[in-house]
Parts: sequence; structure tokens; C-alpha cells
Amino acid sequence: MKKEISRKFCVAPMMGYTTPYARKLYRILSKHTFLFSEMIATKSLIYSKNRSNIIDNDSNNPVALQVGGSEINDLKKASIIALEHNYDEINLNVGCPSKAVQKGSFGACLMNDKTLVRNCIEALQHDKIEATLKCRLGLGKELNYEFFEEFIDEISKSGIKVIYVHARNAILTGISPQANRTVPPLNYNYVNRIKKKYPQINFILNGGIDSLDKASFLINQFDGVMIGRLIKNNPFILNKIDKEIFGASFEKTDGEEIINNYFNYIRPILGKDSIFRLLSPIIGIFFGVPESKFIKKKINEILHNKELDLMQKILIDFIKEKKYLFN
Ligand SMILES: Cc1cc2nc3c(=O)[nH]c(=O)nc-3n(C[C@H](O)[C@H](O)[C@H](O)COP(=O)(O)O)c2cc1C
Repeated sequence: MKKEISRKFCVAPMMGYTTPYARKLYRILSKHTFLFSEMIATKSLIYSKNRSNIIDNDSNNPVALQVGGSEINDLKKASIIALEHNYDEINLNVGCPSKAVQKGSFGACLMNDKTLVRNCIEALQHDKIEATLKCRLGLGKELNYEFFEEFIDEISKSGIKVIYVHARNAILTGISPQANRTVPPLNYNYVNRIKKKYPQINFILNGGIDSLDKASFLINQFDGVMIGRLIKNNPFILNKIDKEIFGASFEKTDGEEIINNYFNYIRPILGKDSIFRLLSPIIGIFFGVPESKFIKKKINEILHNKELDLMQKILIDFIKEKKYLFN
């Protein structure tokens, strides 16, 4: 049996950011937000000795493991691994436009082969774990609703229940993955239209949701929202989600307590992974301020010298000074 889970508010999968450590921080900040791992290629998931540094779950549920791949047997194995690691969901990445990913025959280029994507989803399906998809609207410079509709028509035959849509096309040549998150225009209307055709599927809207106000507004029009860069740049926004989005009674956690909780978590695992990966979920907050160039240099020095206590103190002072939690 699968658990009933709310996907009203999700943090998007982000390579290099939604690490097991970031997910711990996000969980300290919000009990109800739905979380994602970074994308992991099925081959790495199955064969890498290092996979635990990416997929350790540590009971941070509700959470999805995102995979990239298109080989049916590998996907079947991936689903079992996700289950063994207590994930609630296994998600197929059909949105990443990078060259490396195209070379491995996964990511956004799979939108060109809707039957294969349907077969992939069917390979991931298991009665104890939800198999879901994250895709774009289409491929190339021109938006085309019929292409998107035909793609979803095929995928829907798998019986899929949840589809996350990064509501813009992917352009596979000539622009970088970063530019692929800003250059192709957003079109939320396509997601609205497809929802009308498939009311039984939960469509979660992703792309360009850059404030909590926007998220709250869109949650009323879609089955849920998925947010990436806003959280990457300021994870502390998650401190408001349980109350504002899920209606939970407000437990005011102050910034110092959050930082201390997080450092208590990473101190014993120092050495398990690089100090940068352990601290990157939290140090992003320094970089959106005018003096960020100077701060970046200082932070790099501290990380290099592994001065954890100093880092903790600087973070607490910074949060107090900028009133970060409540901006
Ligand atoms: C640094 C970074 C890494 C990303 N890595 C992944 C990934 O591993 N898998 C994926 O499906 N999308 C990935 N994305 C795309 C996000 O999941 C999301 O679709 C995109 O950023 C749009 O949402 P936003 O406008 O809220 O940021 C990444 C985005 C960023 C900024």
C-alpha cells in the first residue's frame, strides 16, 4: 500500500543542492513540504559505491528519489532501491537538457519518444511506491500544445497519478542548462488545459515561482507547486510553509535554533562528504547580498580550514542581523 501524501508544496530536485544534507535542513524547517533528491543516473544508483552520499534518506519523508535513465531493467532495479531506502516516490527525469544527459539517452530528449517514456514509467511502477514523471512542455523553440497533449496521452496509459511539469520547453542545442531555465517562455496555461483533460492525474506546476505569494496563489489553481531556485537561494522560506500552506499551528522556530540543529546534525558526519556539500544548503544565504564577493572569499577560507564553530557563529550573526527568516 502507498501512503497518502500531500504534494501541495514541493522543493524541486536540484543537482548539487538537494543533497541528503539539504533535505535534513529543509525538514528542520518544514514538516510537510515534499522533498526530492538530486537526479541520479540509474547506472550510478545500481553500481556506485558512493551512492549513499546522494540517496541516504534518514527518514526525511515525504521524499522522492529522482532517477535519470531509460533502460527498463535498470529502472526496475532503481524502484526497488528507492523502496529499500524508504522513499515514498520514484521520479523519472524527462526535463534535463544537458549534453551529458542526452548522451546517456535520458532527460528531456526522451520527450521525443513518448512510448519509451511510458514503458519507463511502467518499469518503475510497484505497488508500494509511487512512480511519477517530471517533464517539460516540449522540445525546441516553438511551443506546441498538441505535442504536449499527445505526450501526456501516451504517458497516461501507464496509470500514472502524479506529473510535475516544468512549464516551458527544453532547447536541446545551442543553449546551456542554466539558460534552459530562463530562455524558453513559461506557459502555465498548457498545464491548466491538460489538467482539464486528465482530472484524475495530479499535475504539479514548476518553473518561475519566485515568491511565496506567487506559490500561494498558484496552489489554488493547480494540484501543487514545485519550487527550485527560490529555496536554493533562501531555504529559510520553508519555515513559513507549514503554517501558510498547510494550515499547521505556527511553531515559531528561531534562526539560531535552526542553525544549531543543523550543525548538531553535520558535526558527527564531518568527513563523510566534503565540507562544501555539507554546508552548501545553508551558505547560499550569504550570496544574495551586496557584499557577497567579500563574503564568498571569507567563506571559502573558513571551509578550507574546516572551521565549523566559526562558520556556525557567522551564520547565526548574519541571520540575526539580516532578520533572514522573516524576509
Ligand atoms: C542548480 C540546479 C540543479 C538542477 N538539477 C535538477 C535535477 O537534478 N533534476 C531535475 O529534474 N531538475 C533539476 N533542476 C531544475 C529544477 O528542478 C526546476 O525544474 C527548475 O529550476 C525550475 O524551477 P524554479 O524556477 O522554481 O527554479 C535543477 C535546477 C537548478 C537551479
